[in-house]
Amino acid sequence: MAPPGKRPKPRLKVGVLISGRGSNLQALIDAATDRDYPAEIVLVISNRPEAAGLARAAGAGIAHRTIPHTDRQAFAAEADAALRQSGAELVALAGFMRILDTGFVESWRDQLVNIHPSLLPAFPGLHPQRQALAAGVRFSGCTVHFVRAEVDTGPIIAQAVVPVQPDDDEERLATRILAAEHRIYPMAVRLFAEGRLRILGNRVAISGAVPPEIALFNPTEALASSGV
Ligand code: GAR
Repeated sequence: MAPPGKRPKPRLKVGVLISGRGSNLQALIDAATDRDYPAEIVLVISNRPEAAGLARAAGAGIAHRTIPHTDRQAFAAEADAALRQSGAELVALAGFMRILDTGFVESWRDQLVNIHPSLLPAFPGLHPQRQALAAGVRFSGCTVHFVRAEVDTGPIIAQAVVPVQPDDDEERLATRILAAEHRIYPMAVRLFAEGRLRILGNRVAISGAVPPEIALFNPTEALASSGV
């Protein structure tokens, strides 16, 4: 909270693009209910009128609208105009399942972020959890990154690692990855809003961030000495 008599700092204005359920949108909405969170959502755009995320925006009193994606360029032009008018300074893709027009991506360069349910650059595109299971990886996870023209590419801001369990199917793995998404997306938006991200080519430097030093093992090392 700002001390009494002191005007609170203006919060970063964020526009969110969705296509469906909107649970990542909800995580961002929930984070922004804390007045100390440095960002607020000013507009939610869905390309589908039936997207459940629109009701989440309505419930939170956030401006929202549908822009049908009948044509990529027309969608981009309309979305861009609405976002500019909303005053958005950052656009967050949260389960937005359409490829964006390259002109849109360029005009929002370094102000456009996405969340994807894999440890990029592994498993871009559709069904990343299914891809992870098919590849037999022992860890998957999720990634928040700046958006570049190529699908699911761009400088990485944050990742969370999620171990694959022996009895995982696509849905179980997706559910655990989603729980991690709900933690890293608000964190990544906060870092952006605080001006702590610097893009250096394909890498992102985060001021004040200390990466963990530990390695994770799957299966755990203890197994090797347990005699099983
Ligand atoms: C999330 O898992 C998100 O990472 C994924 O769609 C889901 C949307 O869920 N996005 C992509 O795969 C984009 N390439 P949500 O609507 O509940 O946030």
